[in-house]
Amino acid sequence: MENVIAIDGPAASGKSTIANKVSELLKIPYISTGNMYRTVTYFILSKNIVVKSLTNEIVAPILKEIDLKYKENEDGVFDIFLNNLPVGNVIRTPEVANAVSIVAMLPAVRHWLVEKQRALTEYGLILMEGRDIGTEVFPKAKYKFYLTASPEVRAKRRLGQDGETIDGATVESVAKEIKERDERDMTRPISPLKQADDAILVDSSNMTIEEVLEFIISRVNK
Ligand code: DC
Repeated sequence: MENVIAIDGPAASGKSTIANKVSELLKIPYISTGNMYRTVTYFILSKNIVVKSLTNEIVAPILKEIDLKYKENEDGVFDIFLNNLPVGNVIRTPEVANAVSIVAMLPAVRHWLVEKQRALTEYGLILMEGRDIGTEVFPKAKYKFYLTASPEVRAKRRLGQDGETIDGATVESVAKEIKERDERDMTRPISPLKQADDAILVDSSNMTIEEVLEFIISRVNK
């Protein structure tokens, strides 16, 4: 068994909010793998490369320029560093959000990041959140959850999140974007987003954060 709590699910399903709180309560590191894909995407965009033109051959030497590390801060939170600088909020712009699922389709990028993700078990029990943690990165994870909610509920949550949406966005327009991103994430040939057979499904459409939290913690404490 791998010493991991895996939380997978589509965009804006509440994964990061829940993962943050679960890691706080259990006092274990929380790793957002979406932030790793976003950081790579941010780096590529900062070089003015058109992501649609990327291939494995083009991206391979770019990855060699990236040093991606996690450092534990004084609050016990694991912050992501790109070439020794904390990335902060630059990975949460609409530009990065739109480009990231294209970058995440490249096998070269996925192999590179999955290797880094697997190495993080050196910290003991960790909570890792993403799209393929229970299926691909840690297929033998001790605990697996698949968190989802309806596109409309997720759109409302995303509108409440900082920096992710463009001005004038509506629930309808954001729900449409979310559906498109789900479609790309679920149909890509490599590590598509899907619920692992042995993952516990949590549909949070009609649940409060506290209810989801209680549900997950009670399963882990069993
Ligand atoms: O969780 P997020 O919205 O920050 O993730 C951003 C993108 O990264 C998402 O559209 C798909 C990709 N991703 C992935 O392909 N595999 C993961 N394990 C995590 C994220």
